Amino acid sequence: MTPTLPPTPALIPADRLPALLCAMPKAELHIHIEGSLEPELIFQLAQRNGVALPYASVEALRAAYAFTNLQSFLDIYYAGASVLLKEQDFFDMAWAYLLRAQADNVVHAELFFDPQTHTARGVPMETVIGGLHRACTQARAELGVDASLILCFLRHLSEQDAFETLEQALPWRDRFIGVGLDSSELGHPPEKFARVFAHCRGLGLRVVAHAGEEGPPAYIWSALDVLKVERIDHGVQSAQDPVLMQRLARERVTLTVCPLSNLKLCVFPDLAQHNIRQLLDAGLAATINSDDPAYFGGYMNTNFLETFAATGMNAGHAYQLARNSFEGSFIDAAARQRYIAQLDDTFASFA
Ligand code: ADE
Ligand code: ZN
Repeated sequence: MTPTLPPTPALIPADRLPALLCAMPKAELHIHIEGSLEPELIFQLAQRNGVALPYASVEALRAAYAFTNLQSFLDIYYAGASVLLKEQDFFDMAWAYLLRAQADNVVHAELFFDPQTHTARGVPMETVIGGLHRACTQARAELGVDASLILCFLRHLSEQDAFETLEQALPWRDRFIGVGLDSSELGHPPEKFARVFAHCRGLGLRVVAHAGEEGPPAYIWSALDVLKVERIDHGVQSAQDPVLMQRLARERVTLTVCPLSNLKLCVFPDLAQHNIRQLLDAGLAATINSDDPAYFGGYMNTNFLETFAATGMNAGHAYQLARNSFEGSFIDAAARQRYIAQLDDTFASFA
């Protein structure tokens, strides 16, 4: 193996930081693929599939993206997904995201998908997983982007519904690496899904859950202790609970933080008040991700650039964030080592 130079973030001039943020290899661990559906593609698919939309134009749809909280976003996000009917639609959506990922030097991505949003409309599970998986396979071969799928259960639905969804997906068990939990957080604590998560762990699936986006620290505790998740999606409300912060730091639990999402859903009043820097400085394994980039104003590099500009984070934070993304990803040890070596090389070339 070729030895890598040690990273030297302190030697990187501040004016080179934006270029470094864009150039550094990174993993995206929190992207809902349905949230990458741009208004232009929504209109294109609506026309192709003969679906009527309640908006007159791309501009009118985009103008409706003024959210006050998570639920106000989810209502419009599920409506947008209604144009997805055919295997090719799911492929086109994922391919468009993977091209954007490549442009942002995302070398590894773990894509959430919400099958219940589609199967409830009569779209077969095979259609959903088939199109997404084909895009992931092609991205590996043609774009050099390594992508895998994580099936999310909608937490506003019942645990029984989650069990049935899992059953429908199991014929394609080799096409997804894990399960997650998303949708309306408040009133739907992780423990509602204790049995289905235990079952998934028994099947050898990786497990993650949204917790502490809008919900209280108690939801993060129960995601860890009841669902036994390996990562927390969002987790920014952990800052309210010093004992939880100490645990997350001690156990190096990866938090997949999404700054522009938190801004657009009014979790923080402005980016300068976002707590990602506080989380990193307290030793938590935070990462930066885009969540639903078509709705929140930016893909990975925009999230990095805007968050760094607003919070004054430095090259040391950049290194930590990119490294955390590889440490927290569900890849094998050899791939992780290779990506971290690439990251170190990038930092060395900027010093
Ligand atoms: N589904 C898509 N985006 C989400 C978010 N930010 N929180 C919960 N569920 C989601
Ligand atoms: Zn999310």
